[in-house]
Amino acid sequence: MAKAKTLYFCNNCGHQSGKWIGKCPSCGEWNSFQEEVISKPTNKDAGNIDLIKSVPTAVQDISSGNEKRINTKSVELNRVLGGGLVLGSVVLIGGEPGIGKSTLLLQVALNMEGKRILYISGEESQQQIKMRADRIGIRNTECYLLNETFTDSIFKHCKKVEPDLVVIDSIQTLHTDIIDSSPGSISQIRETASQLQRYAKSSNIPVLLIGHITKDGNLAGPKVLEHMVDTVLQFEGDRHYGFRILRSVKNRFGSTSELGIYEMQSNGLREVLNPSEILLSNREETASGVAIAAMVEGQRPLLIETQALISTAAFGTPQRSSTGFDLRRLNMLLAVLEKRSGFRISSKDVFLNIAGGLKVDDPAIDIAVAAAIISSLEDVDIPPNICFAGEIGLSGEIRTVSHVENRISEAEKLGFEKIVLSKYSLKNISNKNYKIEIIPVRKVKDLVEVLL
Ligand code: TYD
Ligand code: MG
Repeated sequence: MAKAKTLYFCNNCGHQSGKWIGKCPSCGEWNSFQEEVISKPTNKDAGNIDLIKSVPTAVQDISSGNEKRINTKSVELNRVLGGGLVLGSVVLIGGEPGIGKSTLLLQVALNMEGKRILYISGEESQQQIKMRADRIGIRNTECYLLNETFTDSIFKHCKKVEPDLVVIDSIQTLHTDIIDSSPGSISQIRETASQLQRYAKSSNIPVLLIGHITKDGNLAGPKVLEHMVDTVLQFEGDRHYGFRILRSVKNRFGSTSELGIYEMQSNGLREVLNPSEILLSNREETASGVAIAAMVEGQRPLLIETQALISTAAFGTPQRSSTGFDLRRLNMLLAVLEKRSGFRISSKDVFLNIAGGLKVDDPAIDIAVAAAIISSLEDVDIPPNICFAGEIGLSGEIRTVSHVENRISEAEKLGFEKIVLSKYSLKNISNKNYKIEIIPVRKVKDLVEVLL
């Protein structure tokens, strides 16, 4: 009898080795190699998919035309995908357990009236999915559920059903008999994903894949999985809030800076079309340490509340804590405020919080953070009708940011009366008829004058 062939794979990057090694030569991770039983494919056409006979063609002879897209009937998902689901594309959606990945895709499947959808689950039984479907509401009468994890049977069912869209929950449950290792192992994920990729490309049917993530927030499975698929979306959110954010991490057919916002409710996910309303908490009561930032995520303006609390440190070393904002950036802003405007903050505890459980990395939020800190330190309220957008440099200068006009119009739309901007932003504004008052500032010192 032939000996079973085994190989070792790195859990982190998928690097392959004939023997066990302690440190991965490819990604440098320690103790990440796992043994997997491999038997080489005997037939050359793994997965029985007809491969396209390809011929080299000159670039100018290829008809460009826009990629054909399917409308998913979900405004947020369409936006994140760059305008709809491209035919023949493979989209991977990753997220923590219980965040709502299955709910999101089932809801999309149930809402796409007039399209035939095959929802394949290896995680839940048909009854469980039906119970969830009843909660969400069934609009599409051509949504088929299938409990299957063996890829060959999946492709046979696909041939019979002829769906317009295939959903797979999840890639970690699939297996193929070409490889002997257990479902969820690196070689299985790699092989089943590449079969699905070939299926999507040859049949022009889009495939939505759900993927688990590991405890440090990366997609479980080899990095090659992310390289193989066309689009990687991340579904994230703070479990203590109802809000969920769908973010595009990689997109071959659109921008990666787009963002979709959902709210988890008892009957599924609700699309949040005007996020600023929920991100600004009760604005009637003013309090010190609260400033509103006019930020932009992707192309989308959002007004968001930043809260700071400064108090005298009880122990020798003051605490610096930040939720939703980079701690190193906070430390830098504190240093700039101390050095350039003479505030004594180094002996104080500083807590910073971005409302709504959002994580932001738009530099335009800098001056709102600085304003919240100054407001809390001096204990003066910032009027509720004022918002901020600008980046702070190391010398205390306030720099201009992108999409200035977007930010101004959004603030105006939400009823703000004043917006504080960098002086250098003024020349990027072509429309001079804003009702909102624009307050230009050049240095942190000017910002202090506006506030105090
Ligand atoms: P689920 O889609 O199963 O998460 P994932 O597939 O990412 O693991 O979502 C599970 C959570 O969503 C669960 O804790 C219950 C909640 N939920 C609602 O609040 N309302 C609903 O209508 C549904 C279907 C789920
Ligand atoms: Mg699930």
